[in-house]
Amino acid sequence: MIRKIFIGVVIFVSFQAAAQQSNNAKMNLFISNLMKRMTLEEKIGQLNLLTPGGGILTGAVVSQDVESKIKAGNVGGLFGVIGVDKIRQAQELAVNGSRLKIPLLFGSDVIHGYKTTFPIPLGLSSSWDISMIERSARVAGTEATADGLNWVFSPMVDIARDPRWGRVAEGAGEDPYLGSQVAKAMVRGYQGQNLAADNTLMACVKHFALYGAAEGGRDYNTVDMSRLKMYEYYLPPYKAAVDAGVGSVMTSFNEIDGIPATGNKWLLTDLLRTQWGFKGFVVTDYTSINEMIDHGSGDLQTVSAMSLRAGTDMDMVGEGFLTTLKKSLKEGKVTQKQIDDACRRVLEAKYKLGLFDDPYRYTNATRAAREVLSPDKRVAAREFAVRSAVLLKNEKNTLPLKKTGTVALIGPLANNKNNMLGTWAVSGDITLSVPVLEGVQNAAGRSLTVLYSKGANISDDTTFAKKVNVFGTRIDIDSLPPDQLLNNALETAARADVVVAVVGEASEMSGESANRSDINLPESQKRLLEALAKTGKPLVVVLMSGRPLTIERENQIATSILQVWHPGHEAGNAVADLLFGAYNPSGKLTMTFPRNVGQVPIYYNHKRTGRPQAGDEFQKFRSNYLDVPNSPLFPFGYGLSYTTFSYSDIQLSSNTMNRTGAGIKATVTVTNTGAYNGDEVVQLYIHDPVASVTQPVKKLKGFQKVFLRQGESKQVTFNIGLEELKFFNSDLKWVAEPGEFKVFIGTSSSDVKEASFTLK
Ligand code: NOJ
Repeated sequence: MIRKIFIGVVIFVSFQAAAQQSNNAKMNLFISNLMKRMTLEEKIGQLNLLTPGGGILTGAVVSQDVESKIKAGNVGGLFGVIGVDKIRQAQELAVNGSRLKIPLLFGSDVIHGYKTTFPIPLGLSSSWDISMIERSARVAGTEATADGLNWVFSPMVDIARDPRWGRVAEGAGEDPYLGSQVAKAMVRGYQGQNLAADNTLMACVKHFALYGAAEGGRDYNTVDMSRLKMYEYYLPPYKAAVDAGVGSVMTSFNEIDGIPATGNKWLLTDLLRTQWGFKGFVVTDYTSINEMIDHGSGDLQTVSAMSLRAGTDMDMVGEGFLTTLKKSLKEGKVTQKQIDDACRRVLEAKYKLGLFDDPYRYTNATRAAREVLSPDKRVAAREFAVRSAVLLKNEKNTLPLKKTGTVALIGPLANNKNNMLGTWAVSGDITLSVPVLEGVQNAAGRSLTVLYSKGANISDDTTFAKKVNVFGTRIDIDSLPPDQLLNNALETAARADVVVAVVGEASEMSGESANRSDINLPESQKRLLEALAKTGKPLVVVLMSGRPLTIERENQIATSILQVWHPGHEAGNAVADLLFGAYNPSGKLTMTFPRNVGQVPIYYNHKRTGRPQAGDEFQKFRSNYLDVPNSPLFPFGYGLSYTTFSYSDIQLSSNTMNRTGAGIKATVTVTNTGAYNGDEVVQLYIHDPVASVTQPVKKLKGFQKVFLRQGESKQVTFNIGLEELKFFNSDLKWVAEPGEFKVFIGTSSSDVKEASFTLK
C-alpha cells in the first residue's frame, strides 16, 4: 500500500515537473519570438515604470507625457492609477496604441489592505497569526485585482531595531524568524497557486536590502553592517519571500558596503540570483537610480548603466534607463545581453500573470462592483484589528469593561476618522473609518452611558502639525485653547466611573519620511493623561501608534494600556470588541518597547558582551547605563490577556541530539488559569552558549498560537532539529556546532521556562 502511494506521489510530482517544464518552454518560445520583433527602444521601454499623477502620489516626482510614451512602446508598467476604468483605458493605449501591443503591468502600494484598510503591518505581525496574515494578503489581493491591479509593492520585510525610523510601521518588527514566516505568508496570500488567476497578483518584496538599519533611524540614511549581521538577522525575510516564489523584488534606497543597493551587483546578482536562485525581476524604488547621483556614484548615464549591470531590471519613475541605456550600449558600458535579460524578465512576469492571453483580465467592472469595499472585507478588517491588539497593562482587571454605569471617552483620537488607517493606506478612504466613539456607542447597550470629550490636540505644535498634514489634516488644532480642552475633559471625566483615553500618534507621524528623534507621546497628550490620572478614576489608555513609543511614565499612571496601532477602517468596532471583552486580547509585541529613546537600538536577540550585567541593578564596570536599566519597558513577545496562563516545566524527549536523527521534541503544558477563554502565543527560543561565533542570548525558533477555554490545559510540542540550531559562521556557512544548547519556552522573550540538551 505504502509503496503504491509512494509511486503515486512520484508519478504526480514528475507529472507536475514535466508540465512546468513544458509551460516554461512555451513561455520562452513566446517571449523569444516577441523579442525578435522588438527594437532596442522597445526593449528599453519595457524597463520603464511610470506614475502618471492624478491618482495616487507616493513620491516627489510625477511622470510626464505618459500617454505618448505608452503609445511609443516606452513604458513597461504604471502605478498610482486607480480603478477599473482608468486602468482599462491605459491598457487600451498599450494594447491598441503601441506597435507590438504589449500589455502593461499595473502596480500599487497595497500594504495593509487595499480600499478596505486593515491594521498597519506592525500591528498585523503582532497577531503572530500566520494564517490570518496570509488571509489579509488574500483579501487585499482579491479586492485589488477586482479593481484592476496585477502587482503590489508588498510585503515590506525590512527588519528594524530602531523605533525612531518611521517605516517600522510597515514591517513585522525586529525578528528574522517571525519576519520570515510573515514574508512567506504574504507572498502566498497575494500570489496564490496560480498567478494567472483573475484574483491573484504578483507580490514585490521590499526593500532589498537592509533598509531598516538606516543610521539614527533617519529614513534614506546610510547603512553599514557586517556580512555576519546581514546573513543572520537582516536577510532571512527577503530570502523567505524568494523561497516562497515572490515574483519581483524592490531595491532599497540605502547603500550596502558603500555601493547603493540599486547598483550593487553583489546584492542583486551574486546573492539574489546566484546564491538564492531568484527567477523574477528586480524593480528599483522610486527614482533610486537617479538618487545614486547624490550618493556620489556618478552621473545619470553612469548610475543607470551600473544599475542594469548590477541586476536591476526596471526603473521606477526616474527614466534613467529610458534616456541613457541606448547611449551606454553604443559606448560599450552595457551589453545587449544585459538589456535583453532585463526585458525578458519583465515580459515573463506579464506572461505569468496571463496578460498576453487577456490584457483586460483584471478589469472586470462586475467583479469590481462585487468585491471592492464589500461587507465581507469589513468583517475581515474587524477581525484582523482585534487580533492585532496587544494588552500592555491591566491592573485590577479593569478591562474588560462592564456595560453599566458611565464611561468617558477622552482624547484626540477618540472621535477621529482621519487617523484610523495609519501610514501607507494610499487607497483607503479615511471617511469610511469607524471612530472609537461610534464603535463604543454601537456596542454599549442601554445600561452604559458613553460620554466624550476631546481633551487635547494630538499636538499643539503648529510647525510639527504642518509637516504631518502633507496628505490632509491629521493633526487638527482645535479652535478652543488647550486649557479649555483640558478643563472640558476633566469635567467629563468627573461624571464617569471609568475613563478611556484614546491617544497616540497621528497616521503620518510614522511611515515613509516620518522619523522622530523623540518617540514620546506629544506634550499635549502627556499633560492630558497626567490630569486624567489625578482624578483617581480608573484610567484605560487605548494607544494608537505606528511604532513603539516610550511610555514609561504613562505605564506608571494608567490602570490599563491597550496598544491597538492604527487599526484600519474598523477601528472603532474593533476597539469596542476589545474593551468590552467580545474578544480577549491575544497579540504580542514584535518590536521591543524601550524605556527611553537613549536605549535604542534595543532588541531581544542581543549579544552578551564580556561584561554582561545580571538583572537591572547598576553594577560598576558592567555593560549598562547610569540613568536607565538595560531592560526594556516591554520586551519582544510580550502581551497580556484578560485571562492568565501557566506553563509547566519543559519536557524534552531526549537530553542528547544526534546530527542524523529526527531531532528532539520539547513539550510544555499550558493551562488557562484565569476567568476568560483566550488565545496564547507559546514561544520557543534557543540559545547556543558556546560557539565559534558568539551567539545572541536567545533566538526565536518557533511559536504556536493556541486557544484555551477557561480551566483548559493543552500540551504544546515543538520539534527541534539541526536547522533550529544553526547559525552563520565566520565563513558565512550555515552550521550547527556540537555542545550544549538551551531551550526556552514561554509567554514572552523574557518570561520563559528553561531546559537544555547536548548536540553530539
Ligand atoms: C517609495 C517607497 O519606498 C516604496 O515602498 C514604495 O513602494 C514606492 N515609493 C512606490 O510608491
